[in-house]
Parts: sequence; C-alpha cells; structure tokens
Amino acid sequence: MLGILLRLLSFLGFIFVTAAAQNPPPYRPSEMILINCGASSDDASGDGRLWSGDVQSKFCPFNSQTSPASEAYQQDQSVDRVPYMTARIIHSKLTCTFPVLPGPKFIRLYFYPDTYSDLSASESFFTVTANNYTLLSNYSAYLAVSANKNQTGPYIFKEFIVTVWDNQELKLTFTPSPSSFAFINGIEIVSTPNGLYTRDMNNPYTLVNSDLNTAFQFDNATSLETVIRLNVGGQNVNDTGMFRTWREDSKYIFGGAYGTAHKWRDDVTIKYTKDTPAYTAPPAVYITKRSMGPEPRVNLNYNLTWHFPVDSGFKYLVRLHFCETDNFITDINQRVFFIFINNVTAEIEADVFHWSGGRDIPVYKDYVIDVPEGSPSNQDLWLALHPNIHSNPTYADAILNGIEIFKLNKSDGNLAGPNLELVVVPGPPEQRPNLEGRTRKESSHVVVIVGAVVGVVFAFALILYFSVYRPKSKAKDKSSILLFSYTSSCATIALPLPTDLCRKFTIAEIRAATRNFDDQTVIGSGGFGTVYKGYIESGSIPVAIKRLALSSKQGIREFHTEIEMLSKLRHLHLVSLIGYCDDQGEMILVYEYIPHGNLQDHLYKTKNPPLPWKQRLQICIGAARGLHYLHTGAKHSIIHRDVKSSNILLDRNWVAKVSDFGLSKTGPTGDGQTHVSTVVRGSFGYLDPEYYRRQQLTEKSDVYSFGVVLFEVLCARPPVVSSLPKEEVILVDWARKCYRRGALDQIIDPRLKGDIAAVSLNKFGEIADYCLRDTATERPTMGDAVWSLEFALQLQETAEKFVNGGDVFSESQIGSSVTQEVTTTDDDELFTLSGGPMSDSRSTVSTGEGSASNKLILSGTVFSQIMNPQGR
Ligand SMILES: *[C@@H]1O[C@H](CO)[C@@H](O)[C@H](O)[C@H]1NC(C)=O
Ligand SMILES: *[C@@H]1O[C@H](CO)[C@@H](O)[C@H](O)[C@H]1NC(C)=O
Ligand SMILES: *[C@@H]1O[C@H](CO)[C@@H](O)[C@H](O)[C@H]1NC(C)=O
Ligand SMILES: *[C@@H]1O[C@H](CO)[C@@H](O)[C@H](O)[C@H]1NC(C)=O
Ligand SMILES: *[C@@H]1O[C@H](CO)[C@@H](O)[C@H](O)[C@H]1NC(C)=O
Ligand SMILES: *[C@@H]1O[C@H](CO)[C@@H](O)[C@H](O)[C@H]1NC(C)=O
Ligand SMILES: *[C@@H]1O[C@H](CO)[C@@H](O)[C@H](O)[C@H]1NC(C)=O
Ligand SMILES: *[C@@H]1O[C@H](CO)[C@@H](O)[C@H](O)[C@H]1NC(C)=O
Repeated sequence: MLGILLRLLSFLGFIFVTAAAQNPPPYRPSEMILINCGASSDDASGDGRLWSGDVQSKFCPFNSQTSPASEAYQQDQSVDRVPYMTARIIHSKLTCTFPVLPGPKFIRLYFYPDTYSDLSASESFFTVTANNYTLLSNYSAYLAVSANKNQTGPYIFKEFIVTVWDNQELKLTFTPSPSSFAFINGIEIVSTPNGLYTRDMNNPYTLVNSDLNTAFQFDNATSLETVIRLNVGGQNVNDTGMFRTWREDSKYIFGGAYGTAHKWRDDVTIKYTKDTPAYTAPPAVYITKRSMGPEPRVNLNYNLTWHFPVDSGFKYLVRLHFCETDNFITDINQRVFFIFINNVTAEIEADVFHWSGGRDIPVYKDYVIDVPEGSPSNQDLWLALHPNIHSNPTYADAILNGIEIFKLNKSDGNLAGPNLELVVVPGPPEQRPNLEGRTRKESSHVVVIVGAVVGVVFAFALILYFSVYRPKSKAKDKSSILLFSYTSSCATIALPLPTDLCRKFTIAEIRAATRNFDDQTVIGSGGFGTVYKGYIESGSIPVAIKRLALSSKQGIREFHTEIEMLSKLRHLHLVSLIGYCDDQGEMILVYEYIPHGNLQDHLYKTKNPPLPWKQRLQICIGAARGLHYLHTGAKHSIIHRDVKSSNILLDRNWVAKVSDFGLSKTGPTGDGQTHVSTVVRGSFGYLDPEYYRRQQLTEKSDVYSFGVVLFEVLCARPPVVSSLPKEEVILVDWARKCYRRGALDQIIDPRLKGDIAAVSLNKFGEIADYCLRDTATERPTMGDAVWSLEFALQLQETAEKFVNGGDVFSESQIGSSVTQEVTTTDDDELFTLSGGPMSDSRSTVSTGEGSASNKLILSGTVFSQIMNPQGR
C-alpha cells in the first residue's frame, strides 16, 4: 500500500526524496577556506559550515579605514545571513593572499548588493583578479542581481575554477573602478580534484562546429567560470566535498515541452567508474533525469530544448551527464538521439547504454562551443535533444541527467563579460479590463500550494476511487468528496513548506520577501492594489503577494471573508492561500507562485509550443475536478462565476489549478432554494445565456463556461473573434454547429492533427455540447463532466494501444483539418471588442468602461447585461 502511495505521489510530481545522504563524501578537499567578510566572529551558514570572521584575517589585510566592515541595511530574512548580511567595503586596491597547495581551486565570491554604511551597492563597480586571470571587470553585482532576480533572489554568487601553479600562492585582488568602491560578502576557496574539469593537451575536447566537429585543446592553464550547473529532472542538491550546487532545470527549458521528469529512486545504485569517479556528480544527479516522454509520435515532433544566457565572445565547455537507469533499457541501440548545441549537431547517435557500457553506469560528455562576439553582448546558448530513429532503436526518446556549462578565459586570461543591463521595471502588465472593471490579471501567475496533504490524499482517493471502484451513484461520489473537504483551515503541506499553511505573516516578513515592496518585484496591479513576486523561507519559495490598497473597495470584511473561504478550500486542482498579513492595517494575501501561467497562454496568441492532446485532456480533467470540488466539496456549494481559460493555471507539472475566486459566490443555502439571485458578472464570451436572461446563478453557469473552455482547448482560438466570417465569430455557436454536422474535426487546432483518435474527439465534442445546453437543467454536473472527460482520455489511450507504429491516426480517421488562422488580438475581451472592426453590422457591441450596461447583439439574441463598474 505504501509502495502504491509513493509511486502515485511521484507520479503526481511530488518531490519526496532529497538526495540520499552520501557519506563519507567521495572527495575531501585538502583546503576549504570560508571567510564571512565584515563579520567579527565565526558563524555557521545554513549548510552547517563554519565561516570565519575577518577581523585580523590571516588572508586579507582588511582595515577599518580603507576597507571597513559593514552590515547590510536591509537584513532580508529571505537571504542567508551567513555570508550575505555583512560585507567589507573596499575603497582602494586590496589583495588577499591564500597560501594554498598547487592544483585547481574553486573560488566562490558572494555578493548581496544592498546599502552598506550609506553606500549603495548600485554605485559599486570593481575588478577582481585571481593571479593572472581577470574574473570580474568593472563589475556591478547590483546590475547582475537586477537582471537575474527572477531566477535566484536578491544575491549572487560567482564560481570560478583557477589552477594554482607550483610555488605559487593564490592572490585575489579587488580593485574599485575610478571613484567607486568594491564590496564583498563572502569568499570561499575549495580545492578541486585534479583533472575534474580540465584535461591534458593530448586529450582534446570536441569543438562543436557547423562544418565538422573538430578537436580543441585546453588544459589547466585555462581558468573557468561556472555558468550553470543543473540536476536535470531533479531538485536542488548540494554535493558534499566540493559543495557544488546542482539546481533544478525546469526554468531553463524552452517553451512548454518539458518532457518527463524522472524522480529519485531508492532502488538504483550508481556504479561509478574510473572514468566517472564518484566525485564527478552526486547520485541524485545520475538517478533523476528528464526524458522526452512516453509518446514516440510526440517525441518525433519536438526538440527537448534548454537555453542559457551567456556572454558572447567566449568559448564554453558544455558537460552533459548521462546515466541509463530504466529497467527496460537492456542493450545498445534502444534509445538513440541527436544532441544539438546552438543548433549545430554535436552528436548524431548518442546512445548512453553504449557509451557507459551498461545500466546504472554514469558517463559524461564534454563539448566546447564558441559563442562569437556579436550584438547583443549576451546571448542564449541552446541545447536540444531529438530522437534518432535511423538505426531503428526500440524507443524514440532522449534523456539527460545533468548539465554543467563553464566559460573559458580568453587568450589574455580574461573571463569577465560586460555588465548586464539594468532591467527595466517590469511594471504593471497591460491592463485587461473585464466586466468588473478591474484588472485581475495578476491571478494568472499567482498561486497555489503544490500539494497540501489534503489535496494529495484527496487526489489519491479520487484516483483510486475512479480507477477501482467506479461509483454507481452520484450520491456516493459526493460523499467521498465530502470526506476530504474542509478538514482544517491550516493543512500541513506535503514538503516544500516547512511551516503551516495559511499562516499569519508579520509586515517585516512581507517587507523582507518583497525587498520592501520594491517596484521591480511587481507582477501585477489594478484598482484592488498591487501584486508582488517575493520569496519566503530564506528565499527558497517564490510567492505572489497581493497587497490590497487601503482605498480598495474590497473592505476589511471582504478581506477576512476571502481568507476564510480560501483557507478552507484545499484541493489539488484549486489554487490556495499560503497566508496573510494584517499588521498595521495592511491587507495582504500570500499565494504560491505558479510557474507556467495560465492555460490560455498555451493555446493561442502565444509563442509557447502546442500542448499535446492527452495533456490538454488531463488539464481539462484537472480543472473539472477543481470545479466539482467547489460545487460539492463544501457545506454550501461555491460557484466560481468566472471560469475561463485564463483562470486555469498550470503548475510546474502541468497540473491544472483553478484560480481567482474573487467573484465566487456561495450557492443556494436554504432548503428548496435552487439558485441565488445576483447581479450578472463574469467574462465576455463565457457567460451562461440563461444566467444573463434570468440573473439567477447556479452551479450550471460554471458548467456552461467550462464548456466554452473545452472548445477553446480543442480549437485553440478565443471564444469570440470578431474578424471571422459571421457564423464563426462566436466559438460556441460555430463549434456546436460543426459538432452536430459531424465536422468537428475540421475546426480543431491544426497542430493537433494526427494526435486525436476519432472516438476521443467525438466524446469530447459531446461533452462540450452538453455543457453548453441553453437550459441549465439539461447540462451535466461538473462531476459528470469529470467522468466523461476521463472516458475520452481512456478512449484515446485505448485507440493508441491498438495502433502499432506508423502514423497512428490517418487523415481518414480525423479528416483533413483546416482551421481559421486566428489573427486578431484581444477579441475575447469585451472592451477591445468594442473598438474592433465588425464585419457584420448585426454583431455590434456597444460599451465603454464605466457605462452601466452593455447591449450585446450576437447571433440574433439580445442579451442585456448589467454591469457594475465599481466592481465588488
Ligand atoms: C603573471 O603576471 C606576472 C606579472 O603581472 C608575471 O610576472 C607572471 O609571470 C605571470 N604568471 C603567469 C603564470 O603567467
Ligand atoms: C563601468 O561600468 C559602468 C556601467 O556599466 C560605466 O558607466 C562605467 O563607465 C564603467 N567604468 C569603467 C572604468 O569602465
Ligand atoms: C521577471 O519576471 C517578470 C514577470 O514574470 C518578467 O516580465 C521579466 O521579464 C522577468 N525578468 C527577467 C530578467 O527574467
Ligand atoms: C596541470 O596539468 C598537468 C597535466 O596536464 C599536470 O601534470 C600538472 O600537475 C597540473 N598542474 C597543476 C598545478 O595542477
Ligand atoms: C545548498 O546550499 C545552499 C548554500 O549553503 C543552501 O542555501 C541551500 O539551502 C542548500 N540546498 C540544499 C538542497 O541543501
Ligand atoms: C537556434 O534556433 C532557435 C530557434 O530556431 C533560434 O531562436 C536561436 O536563435 C538559434 N540559436 C542560435 C545560436 O543560432
Ligand atoms: C531540432 O533542432 C535542430 C537543430 O536546431 C533543428 O534542425 C530541427 O529542425 C529541430 N527539430 C524540431 C522537430 O524542432
Ligand atoms: C586562458 O588564459 C591563459 C593564460 O593567459 C592562456 O594560456 C590560455 O590559452 C587561455 N585559454 C584559452 C581557452 O584561451
């Protein structure tokens, strides 16, 4: 049972296992020097290592006149105290001398650009050299952090590898730029195994080259700067010994095609070899990996691609780590793939089993790539994998376990690139008005705890329930869900958050998380207030922080209602609240940040690659489950009232999360009451016509809107596109018409061509059609919709199983699909529609921000819509 649970959870993408304890470390550095600059006494960092204070440092000649110690003005609790919260301010050239043994060393420099004794780090520019190598030149840690804040947090550390020669000491020199100053928070020197990253001259590297790959030589006279070190498909790990940090790779993946992440497995023991000794990379790197996925047809249609920002004008060493751990790989020529670096073929037939000689044996490959000088000065380095099926391998797939990229010094020993440009304040994103007259775009990025235990248990129960005991009656269905609802308003989280959910934050914590509401952390704003992206738990957890304006119409009572409601709603497929802050009269809500944004951004008007059909189905099923829970999970049902594709968010694992409960309303409460009367609100294109007419709200209004989303997902176009021929303007009318004519296959997203089994498509059309019935009572419940969608998924999977090889779904099965190219910009929003050209004079919309009513004449039906421009 536990085994099933674990497998299930890992299937759900929950991270369970951190790197297993590795003891003893495979490499013990002969030297490890840790200096906490500006600190008066020794202190331990988060990882337990002891950093020495630097008063009377035996390495650096610091003094209180030319290099005073200072504390950071902003003691940001999201940043590690050691070594970041104290610094040395260096006013004139200063050299630290480390009498180390000869050999390669990691030099790690830590910077927290803040204000120190009234000096702002934004004014600081300096050069750092190590022996004869220039590591940083006229460097601004402030600019580097501003450009990179999204990725890491308000601090930065730089790692270099420099070889110290026989009879040489390591001299680290800080030189302020003219009329500026340098600062440094921490210095770390750790010795490195000989030959780990550099080779001797008669063992050259492969230079990836557009003509033909050639040999390229460099040895330990070249120093390196670490650009990136990733544990592909896994989570952040620190290795013991060298204290390298291997980070998660997902944010470097290009587009939406993430392949499949393979999590840690206890049953695998990595067999290190002489060529790949245990210190090369920890087992966590070699056990977790990313593959392209189980669908050969999908894999053959895309490249699994990462991109990394690099400075141009340098050569880079790209080290790729591989290990086959899958039990079904038993021989060579089973998984063979191309490796492209910067769009050039680095490897035609990468066969990891062949390279390593067996399963669980790690291997790495090194490539050198030249990124020539050019504008812009920083470019992206691209890495892409694609199956190679020429040799007829068993699986059309590719894998990668780890990536390290290093910059090589230029021939003059220089490693320093230009400063990154100051990133312009992202500013409030474009305001997209909706019927409420306020912007709620923030929610599309916002939110959710990835897996409150309640959610996990619930999903577990649900899956087990649906897969094993298909319920016969709805009543039973409902009771099982009730079991898990409203368990507690403070659930404990699966793992990522050490503390309770819905916690109360102090205003100091919120200030620390947002760098005192720094403008640069703003990710959305509107009449209600501002949304910031911040980091909590020592910078490890990104969150969306919504600070309600005190003048906001959303009064104190509603603020508390929202906390109360949201903190009770815990479900895998609903966004939820981490906490709130009401100190000093503030009204602040804290949600977890959702990386993939909203569903709409993966359907149309987007550069994101298309989602495959099964993934779309899974997203629809997830959203339907979330809505079903809203409708049935609580004592009084909750009606969302604003179901639309931009309110369905996608987390790291593409799990759908219904968001934005700003409009939600508790459903009928009393006996016999079947609806609530209310002012009509919602989003244009998604509104239930019956709700329009009668202004009576039921759960079935959500069902209608969900039906619109289903056709959006299928056809990849907005609900309303005014520029199309008249009968196609309203997606719902057009799609239902096509469905009834049996011609649905002609209007599906052309990128789904060959991907959908006819039976699955048919079922899907039927579900959407039902959801969109004019009469609310004829529509299915969300529970029914979940069911039917799961059936559509099953049909798809069964169909796929019966087709072996070749193009699975022929033209005759799905018909030739031709769809209107959607070229309009924002027709799904009412206000832009009003300005847009309308080919048909009957389809006119008169409206204006602030006008009290909008008259829509669409498809001959007159809807009079009441709108309250003040919002709630
Ligand atoms: C480093 O530079 C100094 C002078 O700046 C020179 O004397 C020394 O030979 C150089 N060392 C190496 C290894 O190039
Ligand atoms: C250092 O960089 C800053 C900003 O990039 C620039 O304004 C300044 O002129 C540079 N100083 C030197 C000495 O190159
Ligand atoms: C930071 O994130 C914001 C919002 O997601 C985005 O607009 C901006 O481009 C990002 N900045 C960088 C440097 O990635
Ligand atoms: C540099 O590498 C060579 C082999 O290429 C090795 O013999 C030598 O000891 C290395 N030097 C240092 C200081 O590690
Ligand atoms: C890795 O080390 C860094 C720096 O000491 C620390 O902040 C981080 O929490 C560690 N991560 C893990 C997964 O142990
Ligand atoms: C590689 O191809 C991608 C997509 O076509 C393009 O955006 C990128 O600029 C190319 N990279 C290089 C280094 O040519
Ligand atoms: C994969 O990348 C290579 C190199 O950039 C390119 O030639 C190829 O067309 C790409 N394939 C797909 C399916 O995108
Ligand atoms: C790095 O700098 C050293 C010393 O200046 C030089 O010998 C070596 O060739 C440089 N490496 C590269 C790849 O240019």
